[in-house]
Amino acid sequence: MKQYAVTIAGGGSTYTPDMLEMLCLVREHFPLRRVVLYDIDAERQSHIGRFGEILFREYYPGLEFFYTTDPQKAFADVDFVLVQIRPGGLAMRELDEKIPLRRGIIGQETCGPGGFAYGMRSVPAMIELVRQIRRYSPEAWILNYSNPAAIVAEATKRVFPDDFRLINICDMPISIMDIFCPLAGGRKRHDIEPRYYGLNHFGWFTAMYDKKTGEDVLPEILAKLQKGNCDRELGFSGKNDAYWNFTFRHLEKMVQDFPHSLPNTYMQYYLYPRTMVAHSDPAYTRANTVMDGREKRVKQYCDEIAELGAIRGTRFDLDQKYSAEPKRGTDGGFESATIAHNDAHATYIVELAMSIAQNRNDVFLIITENNGVVPNLSDGMMLEVACRVGARGAEPFRLGCAGAFEKGLLEGQYAYERLTVDAALEGSYQKALMALTASRTVGDAELARTLLDEYISANGAHFPALK
Ligand code: NAD
Ligand code: G6P
Ligand code: MN
Repeated sequence: MKQYAVTIAGGGSTYTPDMLEMLCLVREHFPLRRVVLYDIDAERQSHIGRFGEILFREYYPGLEFFYTTDPQKAFADVDFVLVQIRPGGLAMRELDEKIPLRRGIIGQETCGPGGFAYGMRSVPAMIELVRQIRRYSPEAWILNYSNPAAIVAEATKRVFPDDFRLINICDMPISIMDIFCPLAGGRKRHDIEPRYYGLNHFGWFTAMYDKKTGEDVLPEILAKLQKGNCDRELGFSGKNDAYWNFTFRHLEKMVQDFPHSLPNTYMQYYLYPRTMVAHSDPAYTRANTVMDGREKRVKQYCDEIAELGAIRGTRFDLDQKYSAEPKRGTDGGFESATIAHNDAHATYIVELAMSIAQNRNDVFLIITENNGVVPNLSDGMMLEVACRVGARGAEPFRLGCAGAFEKGLLEGQYAYERLTVDAALEGSYQKALMALTASRTVGDAELARTLLDEYISANGAHFPALK
């Protein structure tokens, strides 16, 4: 079997250790010759790099591993680049969230004004990163998680229109499936082929087909969500933090109000902004939870292993933590890596890379250009939809027309996203003002101007210059 070279850009990400362990778990199925971590922050990445050295030495004999801040070393002769960068870091995420929340407006990583500010940083950083990768590996597959994925995807479509090896993805619908598919007779995500459409963090499941029988089991799932108290059957509250428990329970409320489809959890910010603001603390936002939780936990995990100098035979032993041979689902899904406690994240991107490498044409939700997939939505819209993905890239399944409710919401959101990308690419204050005004989470031009000016001063050189 061919052996692949993989680089993780954003090597210092809190999600990297899970990905590295996942790559070890699937070594029989997706053999690698080299793994490289790349980051612009050498110190942050070094903690994960030292963990990686021990991990691969013990669990992947013969594999070359190193970590670097040099793009040439990182991207030369590479087959897959898995991207998870956060321009401005969690420190800027905190400001993204707090600036609007102080004024009673949604303060969130990717939704509303916070997503706008994050987008203004991510668009130039991602374009520069893709250019660097393409300089050294014109045919590498770039599988991107970096947020805000909707805005990043709109920008990469415009700057790299023919680059079918550049694929933007999100793990949220996958996590939703992991958690809620069991409501349909105990099925697992890998038993189901979904139909879903929308912009990233702004979409709906319209069907969930049982792979064996073709039966649509979504109505069964929706009926249970409508009744409520699904946690009794699913027990997700034992596995997630308070934010995610609130969010997964809120899905029941959304289905009770709009029972015809299963929304992405992020719809809560657009459909219930008042509830979400009331539920937020402007002095301690999600960024604070992540900095005090996942970020510390991951660093501590890596540092403890570096101090021990070993994983095998210690309490971190992978053979204890995971079953010796990774459990394969019916279509090759793997059990999850769990350091970051985001079960789907590492699994999903590795499954995607394998489907491409082996031309398996499995079905994934991918953010791709509409062009008639949903005929009554804008052609250029970057839709998140079910696609077959193999060696030729992503091929979407056509869907029917969007209903008036979804179409109206999506076109409004897409106008905001396009204007944000315009603002970032053109350096236009006017477009930025239009973007924030168009966002249904702001909806007031005076407020939009105030938020924009506050973001410009908080971001300094992180933002493109706006004239
Ligand atoms: P993090 O801050 O811990 O990690 C991001 C890393 O990227 C940092 O080490 C940082 O130094 C590095 N970085 C920043 N700019 C860079 C650049 N230009 N080039 C190379 N490296 C750069 O963040 P995290 O919480 O681990 O999340 C990582 C990213 O993954 C974020 O963009 C997050 O929003 C995204 N994410 C997306 C999904 C999804 O569904 N699409 C899911 C989870 C996380
Ligand atoms: C989900 C979303 C990601 C988002 C993450 C935030 O996985 O799909 O796009 O980045 O949640 O999680 P956090 O724990 O950082 O708030
Ligand atoms: Mn996402």
